[in-house]
Amino acid sequence: MTDHLWLHFARHGAGVTHPIITRGEGVTIFDDRGKSYLDALSGLFTVQVGHGRTELAEVAARQASTLAYFPLWGYATPTAIELAERLAHYAPGEVNRVFFTTGGSEAVETAWKLAKQYFKLTGKPGKHKVISRSIAYHGTTHGALAITGLPSYKAPFEPVTPGGFRVPNTNFYRAPEPFAHDDKAFGRWAADRIAEAIEFEGPDTVAAVFLEPVQNAGGAIPPPPGYFGRVREICDAYDVLLVSDEVICAFGRIGSMFACSSDIGDFGYVPDMITCAKGMTSGYSPLGAMIATERLFEPFNDGSTVFPHGYTFGGHPVSAAVGLANLDIFEREGLNDRVRHHAPAFRATLEKLHDLPIVGDVRGEGYFYGIELVKDKATKETFSDTECERLLHGYLSPALFEAGLYCRADDRGDPVIQVAPPLISGQAEFDTIESILRSVLTEAWARL
Ligand SMILES: Cc1ncc(COP(=O)(O)O)c(C=O)c1O
Repeated sequence: MTDHLWLHFARHGAGVTHPIITRGEGVTIFDDRGKSYLDALSGLFTVQVGHGRTELAEVAARQASTLAYFPLWGYATPTAIELAERLAHYAPGEVNRVFFTTGGSEAVETAWKLAKQYFKLTGKPGKHKVISRSIAYHGTTHGALAITGLPSYKAPFEPVTPGGFRVPNTNFYRAPEPFAHDDKAFGRWAADRIAEAIEFEGPDTVAAVFLEPVQNAGGAIPPPPGYFGRVREICDAYDVLLVSDEVICAFGRIGSMFACSSDIGDFGYVPDMITCAKGMTSGYSPLGAMIATERLFEPFNDGSTVFPHGYTFGGHPVSAAVGLANLDIFEREGLNDRVRHHAPAFRATLEKLHDLPIVGDVRGEGYFYGIELVKDKATKETFSDTECERLLHGYLSPALFEAGLYCRADDRGDPVIQVAPPLISGQAEFDTIESILRSVLTEAWARL
């Protein structure tokens, strides 16, 4: 199979082989040998309603036989109209104008381009730079890559698009003194680094800040108390647009349609744009979106001004139909309530792993957790690059999979295990995740 297929973010050659996944059913995936695995990552934070929903396949087939394809380039389609209305209804405040894409990188790219053109149209043409957080992943196209805070992903492609600047993320486990024991003060400090970066770069040059509600890369990093409130204040003070990158967090991952409109924890803020994708269709067909406020749409609503941007497959009629049917399942099965209800038990089950010497931190929200691995619990010392290579790539990833658990061992920041199962999961799945992690992490520690 590796003769022609080039896998994404994957190593090839020198005897490396890759699993072949052939089927999915509920929370379970199967490989070509018929072996089953618990899908504890929802494919890639995507299959919210679980695998094998024939209802979604049937909706796709029906739409394809009615109107398989038409572009949104100056023409609308009924499914795109209806889905846009639905998304606007779920989004907070005046975030209600939907620009469809085919995925997350395109949504992020779209948000940056809109920010730049908006400011050009409204008398602040110098505003073009963007700020994001260290270790955060926002996609792979040149613009999205410039917003991504992972130097190793950018190095092969330097010089990437200029204009991307980084501030610290909110990993409280790694909070610097004197904030290590005060999450509120840490949140204030981290948010204020955004103001500092805007001042440093020049407020007249900064267009937008891109933040995930819970940052994925680095291991499900939640916002400290007060963080987003302070960020909103800063963005308002400097007229900088706040983009909530919810490619992972939207559609139930933390128990709400959009994380920024959630009333749990310290979420609940009104961004200027939301970017989303993945869970909108639960992966049954590709789709993404950038959703903007009335204010941002206004200058394009004069009968002549155009946003010269689009994608052949953006808002594809089949994907939009699948998106609507997927959101119907959310409503019918109460998936957001389900996540909220079960999240404390999921967290408590994962927290049992704290008794292992290699587990430094368990963090996250909803059905989205990161387990940070450390070499020394007392000092929080992390692993060297060589140890990470041996531990994550050499042992953990294959061992977890072999033990029947599909999840992710990630060393884009400090090493973490990421888990984000389909939203239909319950205690049985939480227990399986915990028990496989326990045995494989115990063995990993013994091998160190
Ligand atoms: C926060 C965030 N933004 C953007 C992207 C890019 O999305 P895509 O892979 O659909 O282009 C991802 C992908 O995982 C993501 O997690």
